[in-house]
Amino acid sequence: MNRITPDFVRNAKGQGITALTAYDYPTARLLDEAGIDVLLVGDSMGMVVLGLPDTTGVRLDDILHHLRAVSRGVQRALLVADLPIDTYRDPQEAVTNAKKLISAGAHAVKLEGGTTRVEQLKAIAGAGVPVMGHIGMLPQRIREEGSYRIKGKTPTESGLLVGDAKAVQDAGAFAVVLELVAPKTADEITRSIQIPTIGIGSGKDCDGQILVFHDLVGYSPWFIPKHVHPQATVGDAISKAAAAFIGRVKGTSREK
Ligand code: KIV
Repeated sequence: MNRITPDFVRNAKGQGITALTAYDYPTARLLDEAGIDVLLVGDSMGMVVLGLPDTTGVRLDDILHHLRAVSRGVQRALLVADLPIDTYRDPQEAVTNAKKLISAGAHAVKLEGGTTRVEQLKAIAGAGVPVMGHIGMLPQRIREEGSYRIKGKTPTESGLLVGDAKAVQDAGAFAVVLELVAPKTADEITRSIQIPTIGIGSGKDCDGQILVFHDLVGYSPWFIPKHVHPQATVGDAISKAAAAFIGRVKGTSREK
């Protein structure tokens, strides 16, 4: 079994890279054994695991805690961990925290931002830590943005995003996530850079796709993002299993 490395991903342009989030040992092990290329311990854990309204409440310790569990379940996949908000405000802080993630089992780290984060990306890559970029809709900026909206619909925004992608590539990232980027712009970015693009809600013309695991399997049925087509109904299965258990125990209770 060959492990997936950052170089493997870098060279897998056009080859349909698959990526999912994972936040615990059983999920990581099941996804790894299913053959997923990349597992991300992302800050979407804020919403899907911690019950927070967005990713801005996620701290480095939250990522480290879940990362250690996930790392125990991974044999083959490339394990990437997010640098949460306010953990890479300058290059030194970025390197220090990226190294903490590597010590906890990550093979690579990811951070949000394009041209404005070039110094952090360069510092991390320069310190020998493989780094993934993330451009388009940046969930860590949701408080400033006010809503999750598609980026790159206008020629101006599209041009800025192509510039972001090139900046991320030139700073040393081995791949870049495109989140909620207009499909035409995602296609243009994918054809403009040498490193692979991994899309989420950005159309089919990316080099790979990433999804939040809970969305894929219907584990957060109260919120299904527009770009997601759940492949399972885990939420329903849990509710039914709990109802069956409750019924069985109540039905046999001695207090009847
Ligand atoms: O945290 C996360 O789940 C992510 C994906 C949306 C790419 O960053």
